Amino acid sequence: MSRTAAILPFFFIILFGAGCGTDHFQSALHPDSAAASKIARLWWVMLIVYGLVFLITMGLCGYAFARPAAPRGTPEPQPPGGFLAFVVGGGIIFPLIVFIAMLFYALVVSVQIRTPETAFTVQVTGHKWWWDVRYPEHDITIANEIYIPAGEPIRLELQSADVVHSFWVPNLHGKMDALPDYPTSFWLQADNPGVYRGQCAEFCGKQHALMGFKVIVVPPDEFEQWVEARQSPPPEPEEGKVVDGHNVFFETGCHACHAIRGTDAVSEAGPDLTALANRRTLGAATLPNTRENLADWILEPERIKPGNLMPPTELTEDQLEALLAYLETLK
Ligand code: CUA
Repeated sequence: MSRTAAILPFFFIILFGAGCGTDHFQSALHPDSAAASKIARLWWVMLIVYGLVFLITMGLCGYAFARPAAPRGTPEPQPPGGFLAFVVGGGIIFPLIVFIAMLFYALVVSVQIRTPETAFTVQVTGHKWWWDVRYPEHDITIANEIYIPAGEPIRLELQSADVVHSFWVPNLHGKMDALPDYPTSFWLQADNPGVYRGQCAEFCGKQHALMGFKVIVVPPDEFEQWVEARQSPPPEPEEGKVVDGHNVFFETGCHACHAIRGTDAVSEAGPDLTALANRRTLGAATLPNTRENLADWILEPERIKPGNLMPPTELTEDQLEALLAYLETLK
């Protein structure tokens, strides 16, 4: 093997790393919280330390292959310090020192990012393939979005309704599993207002990749306003088309799976739709929440996200228009 071949893997790592681009979107390397910064630093230190170890090892391998053989009858040249010292020192003692040092550093980081004293708890339950989000202390249920006030640590209680999922907002923290029947505790804090994308990080079936969510970080006073707005039900349908849409919602069976606060729709099988019109995305961060996308989603959810549990809804054009008009009032 030539020396070039020895460094090829490292070259590809750098190439793929560069492919990640300069966009800070859903990136653990662009931290926006103290915990994520510590995790990102750990990542860089590990990359550099293990990268150097890899380069040294590959360099020595390359040297061993490339160096000319000793002429017949002459003794093989010995490494500095002798063969045994080289193998014990370089093959056992040196890796032990590196591993123990890195383990110690990782343990220190894991202690540093333990859950601090938190302002309140948000319960997040993973479903195939969306996220149920509840604020038990504020009596709020939403889906696929988590609103938090900037600068305040929030405790998360994670669970799963089916298989193992993993909660991950790379810019804000590490990962935590969401398990069925066994709540796990986690926390989030963002230093600055902004919108961060989160993603299920444990393969959980066909639409694992489209099991996204948004963390919306707002200034604390804006968060208080949001809480107040969410605690009241959406306006009663009054206008003709909206009333029709409300009826379509119940006649076509949408309420069998979805809840809307202040109405007879109380099922918890699918995402809560109380604040649907405020939501940034549809289908768990799959599509931007536009009228057109909402219509497509209602008519053909299977085409957009194959395998999801929402059945297609057969509607006339008038019914669809009315339903959209009603859903747009859910703020
Ligand atoms: Cu849920 Cu992957």
